[in-house]
Amino acid sequence: MTIGIASDHGGFAIKTALIPFLQDLGHEVRDLGCDSEDSVNYPDFADKLCLAMRDGLFECGILLCGTGLGMSMVANRYRHIRAALCHDAFTARLSREHNNANVLCLGGRVLGLELAQDIVAVWLATEFAGGRHQNRINLFC
Ligand code: RB5
Repeated sequence: MTIGIASDHGGFAIKTALIPFLQDLGHEVRDLGCDSEDSVNYPDFADKLCLAMRDGLFECGILLCGTGLGMSMVANRYRHIRAALCHDAFTARLSREHNNANVLCLGGRVLGLELAQDIVAVWLATEFAGGRHQNRINLFC
């Protein structure tokens, strides 16, 4: 899968560690920044990823900030984005199965690396169930 990934300074460390993990799973990953732990504004990076997805550059995206909250708020302002903030594998699985989430948001100051890897692996491996869930998505997308 082609995945876009972006973070602010609060998500930078986990993002940096997730990239080789995703590549080892066989995915193509494009890092849209930020590039260090210097303070930046999370909306700039959420916008960058969401606009790239609107242009069809990635099949899905991963956004990280300190809590994941800011990134998910910005991403969900875009009509083509269904961003899910997940702190556990159960929610990650259902965000795909029921909500067909196309962006996963993670809190770099909330999660340890192993939990983040677990969440990401489950999220990427889970298919959308369609059916009644598509009908519900059609009500807001
Ligand atoms: C940055 O300090 C922090 O506010 C940001 O990473 C994020 O948690 C916002 O939602």
